[in-house]
Amino acid sequence: MSVTCVFGMQWGDEGKGRIVDLLAAQSDFVVRYQGGANAGHTVIVGEEKYVLHLLPSGVIQPTTTNIIGNGVVLDPWTLMEEIDGLAGRGIELDGRLLISDRAHVVLPHHKTMDAALETLRGTDALGTTSRGIGPAYGDKFRRAGMRCADMLKPERYQELLKANIGAWNAILDKAGMPPIDAVSVVDEMRAVGERLRPYVADTTSVLLDAWKGGRAILAEGAQGFGLDVDHGSYPFVTSSTTGPAGVAAGTGLPPKALQRVVGIAKAYITRVGAGPFPTQDTGPAGTHLAEKGHEFGATTGRPRDCGWFDAILARRASFTQGCDAVALMKLDCLSGLDEIKLCTAYELDGKRVTAPPAYAGDWERCVPIYESYAGWSEDLGGARHFEDLPEAAQIYVRAVQDVMQTPIEMISVGAERERFIPVDGGIPDDVIPDSGVAGGVSA
Ligand code: IMP
Repeated sequence: MSVTCVFGMQWGDEGKGRIVDLLAAQSDFVVRYQGGANAGHTVIVGEEKYVLHLLPSGVIQPTTTNIIGNGVVLDPWTLMEEIDGLAGRGIELDGRLLISDRAHVVLPHHKTMDAALETLRGTDALGTTSRGIGPAYGDKFRRAGMRCADMLKPERYQELLKANIGAWNAILDKAGMPPIDAVSVVDEMRAVGERLRPYVADTTSVLLDAWKGGRAILAEGAQGFGLDVDHGSYPFVTSSTTGPAGVAAGTGLPPKALQRVVGIAKAYITRVGAGPFPTQDTGPAGTHLAEKGHEFGATTGRPRDCGWFDAILARRASFTQGCDAVALMKLDCLSGLDEIKLCTAYELDGKRVTAPPAYAGDWERCVPIYESYAGWSEDLGGARHFEDLPEAAQIYVRAVQDVMQTPIEMISVGAERERFIPVDGGIPDDVIPDSGVAGGVSA
């Protein structure tokens, strides 16, 4: 019985889609357990580039069954576009895609509400993806949401709309936006419900049977630990549990089913949207990373802010989520920098801080304490073994592993499937001189 979870350790956009695509080759099922169309997972196969928002990244592997779990908030129109888009490129999903009957539906007005709430927040806007995520989860948790099972029953969604439309329209009115027209929503629901009907199922039973039958299941996280609704930089977060802690709730598999947790982190860090970002680099190094890493949002197209690896965030992600291994992504994008910085602690009001502060305002005031590493100029794209990397890159990767106290078992050196270095068991101690960086929660 094998259930593996892949999740982001930073502020999203770590390259999870690429690792899920690799691991999906050995998986029977890939399941998304949280988030919605705010995600943008990119998979590159040969000359083909696929950007997935709702579909699990396993769809590119021909033999996997893909499941959208109950913890996801599902925008049915975006999903249909994705299914049609893949069909147009020769990837058929009939029989390979299942949607949980308990997943909540993102309705058109959730997106309108997302925009309205951002307008009302004014200068405190969160910088959401405008995909209706917060309002859809909001309705779920105040027990007024519509689930996929309801989407198949017109009388049920008419009732739900009638019950909720007053509250929604009051907010829209406050934001100076036109009210929701319930009749047109009902018409749209009817069409989309019929189209998606064949995919809707009790996916919890499917997953439980698969798990008991010893099939390999991969749980695919979206966003990242820094955006987790409990552990991230609240309120500058998304509205779900992004790490493996969310797998049981978002799939129906029991917590004890999870056997392996793989954290994904870029060799640097990026953030999109508002919120604390202590290690942001607004100088030439940040520009270098943005250009080399093509750091633009796969969902919104917004430019991502770039900066240095933040070990406070990554270590917290690893320790709280029980990471067995880390995949370090985009190491190749650091080539060409003279100096590479690694944040090992923060300073806040004259004190050394080694855990993220609870209050976002404090997190914003944190000044990173950096270790400095020599850069390298070589192109890393051809490296397939750890020893192929220039010594400076080896020293830096080893330092990142030390400070996270978690083995780095995969390194990506390019977007294509084959640009990848497996490191069985993590970077060994004797490969290169110890970097001397102290890890540990209270380092
Ligand atoms: P929401 O999830 O659209 O409500 O956005 C809340 C915050 O999470 C914003 O700062 C977004 O930019 C950020 N966010 C949501 N999804 C992603 C993602 O997939 N990658 C990076 N940031 C994301």
